[in-house]
Amino acid sequence: MATRKTTKRIGILTGGGDCPGLNAVIRVVTKAAINKLGIEVLGIEDGYLGLIRNRMHPLAIDDVSNIITVGGTILGTSNKADPSRFVVGKAEDGTPIVEDVTDRVVEHVRERRLDAIVCVGGDGTMTGAANLIRHGIPCIGVPKTIDNDLMHTDITFGFATAVQTATECLDRIHTTGSSHHRVMVVELMGRNAGWLTLHAGVAAGADVILIPEIPYDIDAVCEACLARSSRGKRFTLIAISEGAAPKGGAQVVDKIVHDSPDPIRLGGVSTVLSEQISQRTHLETRATILGHVQRGGTPVAFDRVLATEFGHQAISLVAMHEWNQLVVMQGGRADVVPIESVAGQQRTIPLEHPQIGMARAVGTCMGD
Ligand code: F6P
Repeated sequence: MATRKTTKRIGILTGGGDCPGLNAVIRVVTKAAINKLGIEVLGIEDGYLGLIRNRMHPLAIDDVSNIITVGGTILGTSNKADPSRFVVGKAEDGTPIVEDVTDRVVEHVRERRLDAIVCVGGDGTMTGAANLIRHGIPCIGVPKTIDNDLMHTDITFGFATAVQTATECLDRIHTTGSSHHRVMVVELMGRNAGWLTLHAGVAAGADVILIPEIPYDIDAVCEACLARSSRGKRFTLIAISEGAAPKGGAQVVDKIVHDSPDPIRLGGVSTVLSEQISQRTHLETRATILGHVQRGGTPVAFDRVLATEFGHQAISLVAMHEWNQLVVMQGGRADVVPIESVAGQQRTIPLEHPQIGMARAVGTCMGD
């Protein structure tokens, strides 16, 4: 669709769950496109929903001024609108009726004269971008997610801020747990990957860290709490991922979002675990689910810089007409990989990861 001479206008969308740093990407892409390349930018509203419904608007320099410090996304987002299986209604029995509306999206892209789209998101957004690419729409991917679970990149922006927020929450729960001599079970987001829980758990000095990659043994967890009591440590701080599960058991599902391409929403494992510990050890326990507080708020400096770096790389790819690539960070160096290679995949923590060894070295129980 686009050639070296014809890139006049690009679109930008933010898809999937929001995270701090999205506005920093929108800012650098828009400013560099307008100021350096003389390219117009259309902001696509609410992720792929904006492409399906033809909702987009021009972005000027003023629209993206003073947004680097702002959390969320000025464009809005959606983690429900996949054009290849868009929910158009419900059958009588309540099952969703899905349709492939990609042709409608292609029509809107042509009508708006978009030469390419910068898609900022996680694995679901990259799956959507791979679909657009197959339909002849050039895309550039920018990796975001608080879960840090995108394949082929060591880090996504949004993660550092979520780790900071979760660590602050764990610190606060630590002091009240210590005062009341309780076992405090704190549940963190992350879907099927334990990156957020492991990082925040290590940073907060959690006594027990439970991640999806290591199924936990309830006896080992109770033993860790009792061992602390018998050493005179009258409280225990447990950081548990929403995706963690007991050995031989299943994850706890909070709800099924039928019109979402990734319909399972995990949540509630902390309540189950807290109850089990209380029954088995007779220690007083409390559970806290941190929830969406981990996704909100102003990005930390690291995420502002990383998001700006990724966005700058993305616009450089636009300038070079190197389409269909995802910008990534590997071993501290910026690189690119084909968008298709990350679509629909999740990067979990390898069991030999140094941070697991580091946690064990300070006596943290990993649940096994
Ligand atoms: O992928 C980001 C994330 O926050 C996950 O950690 C969490 O499981 C999920 O999104 C929650 O989704 P929703 O915002 O639809 O509740």
